[in-house]
This record gives sequence, C-alpha cells and structure tokens, in this order.
Amino acid sequence: MSVLLVLLFLSLATVNINEGCIESERQALLMFKHDVTDGANRLSSWSLHHGHGDCCQWDGVVCDNVTSHVLELHLANPRPLLDDYGSDAKNEATERSKLRGKINPSLLKLTHLSYLNLSQNGFGGIPIPDFIGSIESLRHLDLSKAGFASLVPNQLRNLSSLEYLNLRADIEDNLYVTDLQWLSGLSLIKHLDLSDVDLAQASNWLQVLNALPFLKNLYLSCCQLPQVPPPIHLKLSSLAIVDLSANDIENSLGGSIFHGLQSKNKLAATSYTNTSLKHLDLSNNIFNSSIPESLYSLDSLHAIGNMTSAINLDLLDNELEGPIPITMGNLCNLKSIIFSDLNLNQDVSTILAVLSGCVSNQLDKLDLSGCHLSGQLTNQLRNFKSLKELHLSGNSVSGPIPISIGELSSLRVLKLDQNQLKGQLPNSIEKLTNLEILDISTNLLEGVVSKTHIGNLSKLKVFQASKNSFVLRVSPDWIPPFEIELLGLMSWNVGSMFHLWLHSQKHLRYLDISGSRISDSLPGWLWNFSSSFQYLNLSHNQIHGQIPDIPWAMSVDSVIDLSFNLLNMSNNNFSGSLSPLLCYKLKETMGTVILNLGGNVLSGGIPDCWLNWQNLQVIKLSNNRLNGSILSSMRTLQSIVSLHLQKNHLSGEIPLSLNNCTDLIILDAGENELHGSIPRWIGDSLRKLVVLSLRSNKFSGYIPDKLCTIGSLQVLDLVDNNLIGSIPRRVTKFQAMAKFNGSMGTAISYVIGAGTFVATIVMKGQMLEFGTNLNLVRSMDLSNNKLSGEIPVEVTSLFELQTLNLSHNLLSGTIPDRIGELRSLESVDFSVNKLSGSIPESMSYLTFLSHLNLSFNNLSGVIPSSTQLQSFDSSCYEGNQLCGLPLPKQHSANVAIHNGGGGNDYGFEMEWFYFGMLYEFGMGFWSVFAPVVINRR
Ligand SMILES: *[C@@H]1O[C@H](CO)[C@@H](O)[C@H](O)[C@H]1NC(C)=O
Ligand SMILES: *[C@@H]1O[C@H](CO)[C@@H](O)[C@H](O)[C@H]1NC(C)=O
Ligand SMILES: *[C@@H]1O[C@H](CO)[C@@H](O)[C@H](O)[C@H]1NC(C)=O
Ligand SMILES: *[C@@H]1O[C@H](CO)[C@@H](O)[C@H](O)[C@H]1NC(C)=O
Ligand SMILES: *[C@@H]1O[C@H](CO)[C@@H](O)[C@H](O)[C@H]1NC(C)=O
Ligand SMILES: *[C@@H]1O[C@H](CO)[C@@H](O)[C@H](O)[C@H]1NC(C)=O
Repeated sequence: MSVLLVLLFLSLATVNINEGCIESERQALLMFKHDVTDGANRLSSWSLHHGHGDCCQWDGVVCDNVTSHVLELHLANPRPLLDDYGSDAKNEATERSKLRGKINPSLLKLTHLSYLNLSQNGFGGIPIPDFIGSIESLRHLDLSKAGFASLVPNQLRNLSSLEYLNLRADIEDNLYVTDLQWLSGLSLIKHLDLSDVDLAQASNWLQVLNALPFLKNLYLSCCQLPQVPPPIHLKLSSLAIVDLSANDIENSLGGSIFHGLQSKNKLAATSYTNTSLKHLDLSNNIFNSSIPESLYSLDSLHAIGNMTSAINLDLLDNELEGPIPITMGNLCNLKSIIFSDLNLNQDVSTILAVLSGCVSNQLDKLDLSGCHLSGQLTNQLRNFKSLKELHLSGNSVSGPIPISIGELSSLRVLKLDQNQLKGQLPNSIEKLTNLEILDISTNLLEGVVSKTHIGNLSKLKVFQASKNSFVLRVSPDWIPPFEIELLGLMSWNVGSMFHLWLHSQKHLRYLDISGSRISDSLPGWLWNFSSSFQYLNLSHNQIHGQIPDIPWAMSVDSVIDLSFNLLNMSNNNFSGSLSPLLCYKLKETMGTVILNLGGNVLSGGIPDCWLNWQNLQVIKLSNNRLNGSILSSMRTLQSIVSLHLQKNHLSGEIPLSLNNCTDLIILDAGENELHGSIPRWIGDSLRKLVVLSLRSNKFSGYIPDKLCTIGSLQVLDLVDNNLIGSIPRRVTKFQAMAKFNGSMGTAISYVIGAGTFVATIVMKGQMLEFGTNLNLVRSMDLSNNKLSGEIPVEVTSLFELQTLNLSHNLLSGTIPDRIGELRSLESVDFSVNKLSGSIPESMSYLTFLSHLNLSFNNLSGVIPSSTQLQSFDSSCYEGNQLCGLPLPKQHSANVAIHNGGGGNDYGFEMEWFYFGMLYEFGMGFWSVFAPVVINRR
C-alpha cells in the first residue's frame, strides 16, 4: 500500500499539468480514491494518466467554473438496490458498484465542498467519520443507506450551512443517536431525513425540531421515537411534509401530537392557522385512543379545514378506533383521506353522509379499506364528483352497487373487493371511462357481464372480479378497447372455450381463469404474451393437452399454477429455477398431485419448499439441469409414490430422511452425481419399491444385503457406479423377480391412472419407457461397476427376470449351470468380466433370449447349440476361447481339432499357427510377433 502511495506521490510530483484543477484538491481526491474499494471501477477517470489530470473533469466531481474549487462530489451508487423484485444478477451488479472501505480525511482539503453524496454505498458498518463535521462549507450531505453504523457523531453540529441532511439508514445498520442536540446547530436545515436511525434515546427530539425555523420536509419514519409528555406545540409553520410513520408511537405521544394540534393550546393554534402543512403522515403507528378525543373534535383540525392549502390526512395502519365524527365534514380542504385499517366500526352510509358536504367537493382520494364498515352504499356517492380513487376493500359492505356510481366520472381506481356486495354489476359502470383499476373480487355479485359493462372502459388495466358468480358473455371475436394487464375471472363461468379476445391483450401480466369451466385444450397463442407475464392460473378447469413452449413461464418472478388439471408440463422449454413454481404461496397447501416438469431446462437447486406440496404423489423433475442435493425436506412428501430425478446434476448423498417416504414405488435418481454408499435403510423403509434406479452416479461400497428384502422390486438398476464386493446371495428375496405376482401391478396402475407416468428402463441395450406395461417388467442391471466374486447361483431362482446385465465388472468363476432355468430371460449380458469355464448347456433352453453378450471373458469350449445361441452375432462371443457357431469358420475348423476344448492358449495359437503356415512365415518371426497380438487382446 505504502509503495503505491509513494508511487502515487512520485507521479504527482512529476506530472505537472495544471488543467484547471487545484493541486491540493486533486491530491485530496486521489487519496480519497486510494482508501476506497471500488469494485466496479467507477472512479477510473480519477487518475493522472495523460489527459486526465484535470480533476474537475473526473466523474462525479463538480468544480466552480471560475475558481476551480471542487464544489460537489456525486458519489452515490448509480445502481440503487432493486427491492424484492430485482433479479439476483441486477442486485449483484449493485453490490459490485458500491464504494467500500474507508473515507480519507483528505476530503477536508476540499474547502469549498458544498455537496457530498455517498448514498447507497457499502461502507460496511463503520461510523460516520467525525471529520465530516468539519467540512463546514457543506450545504447538502447525503449519506443515506451507505452502510454507516453506530453513533452519529455530534460533530455534525458544526455544519451550520447545511440545508439538506439525509442519514436514512438500513434497519440492520443500527445507526443511532443518544442526543439530538447537535441538530440545533443546523439552523438552516430544510430537509431532514433520519428514517430508520434509532432515536429511542433522543428524548429531546421534539424541542430540537421545534427550534429549526426552516424545517420543511421531515422524515422520521421508523425511528423508535421516544414518548414526549404533553403539552407539546410543534411549530408547523414551515413544515410541508411530516413523516412520522412506523414509530410505534403509543397513545400518549399520539395524544400529545394531537393535543399539540389543538387550539386549546393557543400557541399551537396560531401556528396552525399559518401552517403550510400538506401531508401529515402518521401511518403505521399505534395510536389506539378513540378518534373523537384525539383528532376530530379538535378545533385545530377545524382550523386546518379553514386553510387554503389542501392537505392529505394519512392515518394508515394505526390502531385508532371509533366512528368518524360529524365535525369532519367541515374539513373542506381535505384532498385525501387515508384511514385504511382503522377500526371505524361504522355504517358506510353515515360516512358518505358526513363527507357529502364540502369535503366531497374536492376529495381526490377516499381510502377506507379494512375499516370495519358495514351497511350499504347509497346514492350520496354521486356527490364525490372529484373522486379519483375510492377504496372500500375488506369491509362488510352489503347490498347492491348503486347505479349512481356511474356519476363518479373522474374515478380511476375503484376497489370494492372483499365485501358482501350482492346483485348485478350496474350498467352505469360503462360511464367510468377513466377507470384504470376495477376490483370487485370476492363479493356475492352475480349475473351477466358483457360488453355493455366494460366495452367502453378504454383505460382499464386491472379488472379483478374473481370469486363472484358472474357469467361472461362476449362474442369470441370481440376486440376490447382496453389493454388489460391484470385479469381475474376466477370461478366465473366463462364458457368452455378459451376466449379469443384475450389474444388481443398484449400487455397481460396476470391472468387467473381458474375454476372457470374451461374444457378446451391450451391454445398456442396463450404463450405469445410478453415476457413480463408473471402469473397464470389455469387450475381447476378441464384443460387438456401438452403445454407448448412457454419461454417466460419460469422466469424469475413468474408464477404459474396449473394444478388440478390433467396437464402435462413436461418436455417444454421451461428454464431457470424451480423456486418460482414451488415456493410461491408458501403458506398454502397445494392441491397438486402430479408435478411433471421433466424434460425442461430447469436449473439451480431443488428448492426447499416441499412443506406445502404434501398432496404430491408423482414428482417428475427428470431431464433437467438441476444441481445441489436431494433435500431432506422431501421427507414431508407423505403421499409420494413416484420420484423421478434422473438426468440432472444432483450431488451429495441420498438423505436418510427419505426413509419417511414409505409409499415410494419408484425411485429414479439415475444419471446424476450422487455419491456415498447405497443406503441400507432403503431395504428397511422403502418396502413398496418396484423400481430402484441409481444408475450412472458415483455410488461406492457394497450392495447392501438388506436391499434384497424388498419383495416388490421388479427393476434394480445400479449400472455405472463404483460398487465393489460381490452380488448378494440374498437376491432370492426379490420375490417379484422370482414369482409373477399380479397384485404388485395395482400400485403401479394407480400411479399411471393418476396421470402421466412412465419409468425409464434400459433393456436390451436400449432406453425404453414403460407405462402400464411396467407391470410386466423384471430387470436387474448391475453392469459397469467393480463387482467381484462369482455370480451367485441364487440368481437362477429369479425366474421372472427378463433382463440380467452384469457386464463390465470383475466377476469370476463360472456361469451358473442352472442359468437355463430363468426361462423368461430375454437379455443377458455378462461381457467384460473374468468368467471362465464353458457356457452351460442349459443356456440353450432360453428360448426368449433375443440379446446376448458374453464377450471378453475367459470362457472356453463349444457354444451350445440352440436356435437362439447360434443366431447371435459372433461378436457376442468374441474375446473368449470359445468355438462353434456362430464364430467364424477358422473357429469351426478349430472346433474340429479341439472338440470339447481344453487349453485356451493352445487353441489360440493354433489359429495363428494356421495363419502362419499359410503365409509361410518363419517361426522366428512368429515368436516375436505373437505376444504383441495376445496382449492387445
Ligand atoms: C459553469 O458551467 C456550467 C456548464 O458549462 C454552467 O451550466 C454553469 O452555469 C456555470 N456556472 C457558473 C457559476 O458560471
Ligand atoms: C444522492 O444520490 C442519489 C442517487 O443518485 C439521489 O437519489 C439523491 O437524491 C442524491 N441526494 C441529493 C441530496 O442530491
Ligand atoms: C466546531 O466548531 C467549534 C467552534 O466553531 C470549534 O471549536 C470546533 O473545533 C469545531 N469542531 C469540529 C469537529 O470542527
Ligand atoms: C402568518 O403568516 C404571515 C405571512 O406569512 C405572517 O406575517 C404572520 O406573522 C404569521 N402569523 C403567525 C402567527 O405566525
Ligand atoms: C374557520 O372558518 C370559519 C368560517 O369560515 C370560522 O367561523 C372559524 O372561526 C374558522 N376557524 C378557525 C380556527 O380559524
Ligand atoms: C413422516 O411422515 C409422516 C406421515 O407419513 C408425517 O406425519 C411426518 O411429519 C413425517 N416426518 C417428518 C420428520 O417429516
């Protein structure tokens, strides 16, 4: 580091370019740069390379045109963190472009600095440097969300020119003050944001604030403001924005503030009449006194009512209770009333009556959602001529929607959802031509909705009317005047077909037509929507067919719910992570029984979201690009009978917890990168297994004896692992392979009946898919391991076995004599082992045999004769010391000489001997050449 510094100063000394920038300030900036870590190289222009010497030209630096003093440093992170919606990649870029490290006190040399913005960087929990308090020229200081923590230094008191101070923190930063007295030094401050800074110990906050004469915008959201004893008079003379939201301000403080607002306190009253307050945001607090005492009966509000400037009253998420008092009708300048979630416990018609006077004339926005309102909507609604937003969601308002609603022609947002509204949608809705959002979902509305209702609403973007008993009646070729983005028609009767008019909606992002009696197949155009599609719910219909490619469907923030259909989602081009599909609605139990996402390009890990998928019986994730491990949380899949994970990149071991999935019939984890030993507990717990495939993984160790006790097992596929030891003698216990038992099939038929199901099994060297006919399959494939010892004679009791593949192991000894008893065998492969002896005569009894490979062993003697054995290609026997048909003629000649075949080497040499004789080579040459040939074998 110090070497670098020295170099830096050396170059400073040698470069003598005064390009307008003051030398000492240039040095100061270079030292600042030296101390920060700049992952995205944002300060690359801050260098002395040729042509860069003028620090006034550096990125983020603003100098005075005349004096060249540095006036401003704009060093905020240019990539603000995207909240929950940002993709990981974007947020990673944001993280990278954060400046980190230390802040060098060299900034003090910037004697004219009036603007410093370091917002959204990552200073990793260091305190705000004390020396900043000495940059007395500062007028704007923005250190918001820059990773500063611990105590805010009192030294800031010296920033007497400061007009703008933003120390807004991230909650986890734990930035705090013990005393706000330093604020009183900032006598010119206009904009103060200390949101998320812990002010719990600043008991003097109100006094200090009152002493700031120019304070206009005050943000103290989420500051744990301490309680202040009344009486209080908050000088509001210049305040325009007060945000005290989310402060857990309890009763007494709430009372205090409101008392402060009362004209009973003369001082306060006078200040209010002059106030320019526009927005009083007291949302997210816990005022829980009753409303009349603390608010509406106040003459102060009455005074506010007299003010010429319009105000917004925001009491969102408080715990205030009690009805709106009649006096509120005098607050003629109210622009917006946001009372959502206050417990008003009132008849909605009373409120309409109270506000129908002068309030209704100007009111822009009335939000009474979740206010425990009952009663019916009345025609007084028509008085609210300026109303742009009406929110009454989540109350118990009943009765019909009045026809007079059509007179609110300015309405842009109408939310009446989650009430008990009855009757039909009035035709007058068509007059609300400015309507953008219409939400009437979850009511008891009914009747026909047609073009006469929504045919004129050309600005409509959101039409959410799910959970009513509407019938949609529009002609299929209707072209709506709107471009809808969200359409919710859940549990409507939309008719059996997919509506073509949806096709015209190019901006659709959210579509819920679940449970709407559609019995069509999926139209291809459904997938032509823009890539911004986020939610599609087609569940609970009778939609059938394969889903075509949905490029957007698995993008990070999209969700599709196709449950309770008989849909096959496999073999599409779904790509990306599984989590959007599996992890949304985490608290709900999904009804889905079959999740078939096989054959897509899904990647990432298997998400840990199985708790809400307890109805799943079949999971098919095969043939994707999933990685990570098989999750132990999958044990909660109580109903699972068929688990297909093959052909992914899964690693790790098979988790013990899967032993809870005792109903598993098929476990296919083949062609992954799993390792460890084959768990013994599979034999103890998964007693219903019919198919166990662990092929092409990295399993090692022995084949556990216990495995053989799974009487139902029909297919055992352990191909291509690193298994050692011998083939267990207890294979006799594989009853399903020994005896045909029709009842075994029932379980499988059930799985098949439940939807799309196939097991993939390698038979006769080909990958075959089995559905219903899996019933008939019996296969054991242990090839491509390091198994040693003999082929246990017990194998010959597996009379139903059709496929037996033990090739590419280290097996020795002879082929069991009784192999011919396996009359069902269609495919036998013992190739590339060390088997010796002759081919048992009994093999000629295998009349179904259509695939045989005995090549590259030490077998000898004559190939028994049977229609089958001679019909195979000679390559099936090569690499042995065998003779007889179908081996080539020479072999046959050989046979003639050495019938019954004894000495292998001899037979071999004879062959070459003939060869040699034929070409009349001398024995000298032969003796050199022969070993080479033999070795190559
Ligand atoms: C300095 O220059 C900029 C751009 O050339 C101009 O916008 C600004 O008004 C100038 N300021 C002064 C103080 O001359
Ligand atoms: C600081 O920079 C951020 C990000 O560019 C910006 O949002 C903020 O308004 C700036 N602060 C000031 C005081 O200009
Ligand atoms: C703040 O100002 C006072 C008097 O103006 C001075 O004595 C003190 O050193 C200053 N503190 C800082 C941190 O600059
Ligand atoms: C009210 O405002 C006017 C004009 O801004 C000012 O002259 C007057 O002194 C103020 N009254 C009070 C009580 O602050
Ligand atoms: C509000 O105005 C009304 C009449 O317009 C007046 O009677 C009342 O005294 C005023 N109230 C306040 C607090 O200024
Ligand atoms: C195992 O499965 C049972 C139901 O079969 C379930 O109740 C239990 O929670 C599961 N155990 C664990 C540890 O998940």
